[in-house]
Amino acid sequence: MAAAPPTQTSPLLTPEQRAAFARDGFLVLPGFVRAADCEALLARARELVGALDPSSLRSVFSTVSQTRTADEYFLESGDKIRFFLEADALLPDGSLRPEVSKERALNKIGHALHDLDPVFARFSRQPALAQLCGELGPSAGLSDPRVVQSMYIFKQPRIGGEVVYHQDSTFLYTDPPSALGLWFALQDATEENGCLYAVPGGHRRGLSRRFRRSRPDEQAATGSAVTFDEIDPQVLAISPAEEVPLVAAQGTLVVLHGLLPHRSGANRSERARDAYALHVISAHCRYPADNWLQRDPAFPARGF
Ligand code: FE2
Repeated sequence: MAAAPPTQTSPLLTPEQRAAFARDGFLVLPGFVRAADCEALLARARELVGALDPSSLRSVFSTVSQTRTADEYFLESGDKIRFFLEADALLPDGSLRPEVSKERALNKIGHALHDLDPVFARFSRQPALAQLCGELGPSAGLSDPRVVQSMYIFKQPRIGGEVVYHQDSTFLYTDPPSALGLWFALQDATEENGCLYAVPGGHRRGLSRRFRRSRPDEQAATGSAVTFDEIDPQVLAISPAEEVPLVAAQGTLVVLHGLLPHRSGANRSERARDAYALHVISAHCRYPADNWLQRDPAFPARGF
């Protein structure tokens, strides 16, 4: 009797989709996740925000030593669940505008939802994501993936701010580069409410700059706990003619090469545009000790 052939998972992507990712540096996959799963994350985020004491945020963003406290709150967030505010929700002294509710004031929740919250953890470790990283990873220098960061990204009606052109490898620097972004549209993202924009092929321009923790002497000189090392500013000198909007209906997954320049528009509409993003890096690449995102060594980033 002949032995049964080994079971093989059929590919998730077509050869054309893999080629498009290698060529463009991004891939838009409509309907990758179910609407019900998007709604579950929206509801879970609402619960987390509902349980949040706004005065705890006020102590971070409106104390006298505001910059320093806010820096620490951010720099310690790599292995925690922390809440970040929208700049337009704050008065010049750093306090919340009285007319803005805490639900409308938030910009982001980060950066370890995928490890610490059961609802986000389940979503973040769907087997299909491991398979996707296996199929697209080689184009982005990614093998043996580690899920290093998660962000629930609000784009609030009217006040949701623009995120300017950047590369994710600036913030999740590895040597060599290996970052891959998985961006899920939890609600329809359009040009009106702040969808993503990207430069097709821009991932071949190299890294523009690196974001890291400042050395003590730098912090003493500049007062800032974080520093950008400029490498090639031309990479992000992008004209409107070069970019394309990545319009994404609810349930769409946008995969972004870590070196792809991308941005998102402001939301001046009445419709929220919430998204969830995961970032993955390769276990085989060097992860510098002065990268902004650090985790407790007892609680390392895991794969899928
Ligand atoms: Fe990004």
